[in-house]
Amino acid sequence: MPERRPTRSLSGALRTPRTPADPGFWRSPVRGARFTAVLGVVLLVGLTLLSVTGLLSYAAYNPDLNRVNDKTPGKGLLGFYLFPWPTGPHWLYRLTQGLHVTVGIVLVPVLLAKLWSVIPRLFALPPARSVGRALERLSLLLLVGGALFQFITGLLNIQLDYIFPGSFYTLHFYGAWVFLAGFVTHTALKAPQAVRVLRNGIPRGEADTLAAPDPMPATLSRRGALAMVGAGSLLLLVTSAGRSFDGPPRRIALLTPRGGTDPGPGPNAFQVNKTAAAVRITPADTGENWRLTVRGPSGEFRFSRAELLAMEQHTAALPIACVEGWSTSDQQWRGVRLADLAALAGYPDRPPGVFVESLQRSGSFRKAALRDNQVRDGRSLLALEVNGAPLSPDHGYPARIIVPAAPGVLNTKWVETLTFGEL
Ligand code: HEM
Repeated sequence: MPERRPTRSLSGALRTPRTPADPGFWRSPVRGARFTAVLGVVLLVGLTLLSVTGLLSYAAYNPDLNRVNDKTPGKGLLGFYLFPWPTGPHWLYRLTQGLHVTVGIVLVPVLLAKLWSVIPRLFALPPARSVGRALERLSLLLLVGGALFQFITGLLNIQLDYIFPGSFYTLHFYGAWVFLAGFVTHTALKAPQAVRVLRNGIPRGEADTLAAPDPMPATLSRRGALAMVGAGSLLLLVTSAGRSFDGPPRRIALLTPRGGTDPGPGPNAFQVNKTAAAVRITPADTGENWRLTVRGPSGEFRFSRAELLAMEQHTAALPIACVEGWSTSDQQWRGVRLADLAALAGYPDRPPGVFVESLQRSGSFRKAALRDNQVRDGRSLLALEVNGAPLSPDHGYPARIIVPAAPGVLNTKWVETLTFGEL
């Protein structure tokens, strides 16, 4: 390894670099303003998409409707942007959450390369020479800390290895806002500079403050380093995005275990998040004695599965789109319209929202509230069959909710009670 040569410190003295705060300590010839600017622009687009789709994921739960839907009840003003989640297009959540998780995985090499490219600046001393510079460094702390936290919690969550104390939802939601504060400030300060460097290069007479003052001989060009980062992202894309598609792409989605396995042939052979066994649903719970209770201003009614099958049946082609990013193609669901059950409960016109309770004994999302626009959509069903066969136990037999564009967890399985109008 070439010997470290003395470099000039900020005070002008010649010294041999020993610590990361010495500019000469960092010697890769790949670092430079242009390299950082290219990665910065890719991150600007990618992280914006991640932030928007993440915030949409929270809105998709309709957390303002009922506290059972809200995993961050202390959000306060941070919930200012919430809106009634629409039911169309029916693949909306499949798209937004699929993008959120896939873009999150694909950006990992870009984020790491960007941090690597600016690492000498993160160690620069003194930390701040003016109030403006101190604020800039504070925004960097929020940006880098926030991004690492979001990536680590998100990746652990989808790999089912979430190890942080406290709820993922709450931490990831607050983490998003901390990250966003740093991201917006940093972008406002640095985007003009990045665009200038990419368009015109470094102006003559100005130093490239990211380039090593005493570089080692090059073993890889900057272009080569960027190609390596791109190849890493491409490999991650190929091994993760397929969990939102059928056939061979799903089989090579090796990095996403939940959606990656091939469920085999048959009408019920599509992905499952929670199995009946995992939430302790027994055949006795769902057998002959099972009854659906429907409540509303007209009273309380109980229906067997045979009685539900004797009502007018409707079909809807809808996917299951999981919060962990995987999704299925459209499945053919058949059952009773929620709006028809609302009419029986006493709401013949303009049905209100419904509170859904499952037989599920343990785990989250045993109860969920659906908004009036979701009940009114003719494709929202209490499904009894899928793809021409009765629901399997893992897909929610004897009856489950299916609503267009809703996150999978709101499509409650093993439904026991529907209460219309009281949310
Ligand atoms: C800077 C980057 C990121 C931001 C700003 C961000 C933001 C958000 C927000 C605001 C939510 C909604 C939280 C809630 O429902 O309470 C969310 C959900 C989610 N995020 Fe991220 N996120 C980021 C990175 C990632 C990454 C890298 C992954 C994994 C690859 C990830 C995986 C998830 C998952 C699985 C959910 C859904 C959780 C659930 O509802 O069960 N996120 N994200």
